[in-house]
Amino acid sequence: MKPYERLLLENKAWAAERVADDPAFFERLKNIQTPEYLWIGCSDSRVPANEITGTQPGEIFVHRNIANMVVHTDLNMLSVLQYAVEVLKVKHIIVCGHYGCGGVKAAMTQTSLGIINKWLRNIKDVYRIHRDEVDGIEDESKKTNKLIELNVKEQVMNLAKTSIVQKAWKDNNAPHLHGWVYGLDNGLINPIYEMPAGTHIDPIFEFDNL
Ligand code: CO
Repeated sequence: MKPYERLLLENKAWAAERVADDPAFFERLKNIQTPEYLWIGCSDSRVPANEITGTQPGEIFVHRNIANMVVHTDLNMLSVLQYAVEVLKVKHIIVCGHYGCGGVKAAMTQTSLGIINKWLRNIKDVYRIHRDEVDGIEDESKKTNKLIELNVKEQVMNLAKTSIVQKAWKDNNAPHLHGWVYGLDNGLINPIYEMPAGTHIDPIFEFDNL
């Protein structure tokens, strides 16, 4: 058996188990998707949204990229965000980073990595804004983890700067925004930041004609 064939075999077993547990499982999910959560997480293979939150298919709408970024020119993320907020009407958006994130570590170096430089620049900007706080920490991994937390907070604020979120706040008083950081060493999520719907942000980012 080729290694990848194990995945297909496991899939058969998984599907059979679902039906054994709940004969209507797939029938129910086939026609309707009503997740209450949008998850914006890191692509890192060790941070799977459903598994670490004990949720099932149908419960979380997921977008993942390197270092869980909310970049205003990223059509992929914006399309996911608009669909989640305006069509699925999710109640919560979770930006979930993780301690020891390789993307954030790479952004703290001066090494050129090709195309990915352009992506990491967004993290370097977060570092520049919080340089004093980050540089005040001696220990290298604590320093990285501080930037990881600050980056998550910054990405939550980036969500609040979008017209998509601001319009939904005005019309529906939702979704609420959350910043979480997952620990690779203990499997626990540390909720570090929250922006309930309607939270005021720096007025220069607040649209007055939505
Ligand atoms: Co990561």
